Amino acid sequence: MADTMKGLSRTHYCGEITNALLGKEETVCGWIAKQRDLGTLIFADLRDRSGIVQLAFSDETDREVFQKAATLRSEYVVCAKGIVRERESKNTELANGDVELFVNELRLLNKAETPPFEIVDNTNVKEELRLKYRYLDLRRSEMQRNLMMRHKIVKAAREYYDSQNFMEIETPVLVKSTPEGARDYLVPSRVQNGKFYALPQSPQLYKQLLMLSGCDRYMQIAKCFRDEDLRADRQPEFSQIDLEMSFVDENDVMSINEGFIKYVFKNVLDIDITLPLPRMPYDEAMRRYGSDKPDIRFEMELVDLSEIVKDSGFGVFDGALSAGGKVMAINAKGAAESLSRKEIDKLTDFVKTYKAKGLAFSKYGKDAISSSFEKFLSEKTINAIHTAADFKEGDVLFVVADGKADITMNALGNLRCELARRLNLIKSGDYKLLWVTDFPLFEYDEEEDRFVAKHHPFTMPKEESIELLETDPGKAYAKAYDIILNGCELGGGSCRINDPEIQSKMFKAIGFTPDEAYARFGFLMDAFKFGAPPHAGMAFGLDRLVMLLLEKESIREVIAFPKVQNASELMTMCPAEVDEKQLKELGIEIEENK
Ligand code: AMO
Ligand code: AMP
Repeated sequence: MADTMKGLSRTHYCGEITNALLGKEETVCGWIAKQRDLGTLIFADLRDRSGIVQLAFSDETDREVFQKAATLRSEYVVCAKGIVRERESKNTELANGDVELFVNELRLLNKAETPPFEIVDNTNVKEELRLKYRYLDLRRSEMQRNLMMRHKIVKAAREYYDSQNFMEIETPVLVKSTPEGARDYLVPSRVQNGKFYALPQSPQLYKQLLMLSGCDRYMQIAKCFRDEDLRADRQPEFSQIDLEMSFVDENDVMSINEGFIKYVFKNVLDIDITLPLPRMPYDEAMRRYGSDKPDIRFEMELVDLSEIVKDSGFGVFDGALSAGGKVMAINAKGAAESLSRKEIDKLTDFVKTYKAKGLAFSKYGKDAISSSFEKFLSEKTINAIHTAADFKEGDVLFVVADGKADITMNALGNLRCELARRLNLIKSGDYKLLWVTDFPLFEYDEEEDRFVAKHHPFTMPKEESIELLETDPGKAYAKAYDIILNGCELGGGSCRINDPEIQSKMFKAIGFTPDEAYARFGFLMDAFKFGAPPHAGMAFGLDRLVMLLLEKESIREVIAFPKVQNASELMTMCPAEVDEKQLKELGIEIEENK
């Protein structure tokens, strides 16, 4: 039978046993990380969420305790009492590697089977295995640190927004399905067969209604659900720091929320962020960086060659321009040595994944230029390109031409980031933030052959764009803003429409008849007849914020129990089949298991 803790109680976490406690008798609890039996001496590393402390046993140790120490194996659960003393051979890799606990009382609280992988940091164990045994993976100090940082960030959010008069209000998780961008997760109703709830993609409509209720400043750490393709920075269920404010405009929202960013960086990383953060209109971000979430940690800005190569006689360029598109370039400074021809060819495949039809290049090696396109151009045009792009010896110039300007910019924008990774232009510990503002109100959905709201259909158009709703929606701009950290969309929001007339025009522009709009959003449209204050808000992706602050590559590293690519959770193995009885109650029949 296992020992109990009776009569003992923990005085410190393992990582807290430092030389400040030399000579004191202390009690620690945790899991055995490793045990070394040297015959007359036994050492065991004991781990808990704070770190590791070495337990020591020698021929001076009580025989019974010593014998018990000899049986310790990895992941056994123990409680040990002893005297803190200086270690003979110090471990410089541990923060407290100069001390150990010389044990006089040892309780073996539980045994453990050999775990499927060793619980250490810097592990190269496959992620699937880590996720299957996530509870063991989370014992690793790196994961404990991630969870602790997440906790601190959430705590900072509650503190900051409370200090700014926000109140936290919970909104429902079983809601009405309303099209908001991604696909909804649906929950069948048992009491009303054939009807469904949806899980919220965000608390958007509820928080707007709370403004109508006079709550004035709302915040919530909200769970959101979106049935969309997963990526490194996307999960089907994720958390937002969600906010809404009344009687404000976009400047108020940006300034309150950049205040939070400053607060969280100071509190969690002790880094000072200078405010106000830079702001850049969407059009400028696209033109200079080929992205609405520009990574401004490095330069390599896009250069527009369209004017220079106009009527150049080179079919690829002329064709793009006459179709109304753009010819643009980026100059990878000093990359000639590190980018081989083969790699440049691979980059052609890379830009093709972003719909570019090709990638032209010039490589300025030692005294000579090799180029895929200069042979088609006059010397004058070539010189003008070189000057415009500041193309010098050692550089590699990349050019994309496309009949659609967005494709040119997006392909080069992605190439820019890919090159920065390959050329190691990104320094660890560098955090660059900015606001991207003045987004287009709509984007054209080729598949559906209609305009759709770029943010969501409750976003207020810029004053000068209101009349365009009916005449030329493609040219309308929104009072919307995103906050970008190191090239990742950390959050976004907008001023909302509080005027029923503008709202109707908006629904019309995205192709809803008044009846369709009413069927979907009737409750909101009705509510807005009863005195909606001007209001605006935004939401931060909490998982992304934690990921970026901790410089992790994937949000799975900062979520206790994340899902994988096919949206399963590998530990409990969900989604899973359910009982026939459960289905019957819901009035659901499964046609076939795909
Ligand atoms: P939006 O859809 O831009 O806005 O979401 C806000 C932020 O949430 C994060 N995010 C995600 N994080 C992880 N996995 C996902 N699948 C995922 N999707 C989004 C991003 C994003 O910037 N209701 C509006 C906000 C508002 O207008 O107030 C909304 O949800 O960091
Ligand atoms: P071609 O005349 O098709 O052999 O193309 C000459 C060069 O232009 C090759 O290096 C192609 O990769 C490049 N090229 C072709 N299409 C494009 C494009 N859309 N944008 C940029 N370069 C292109």
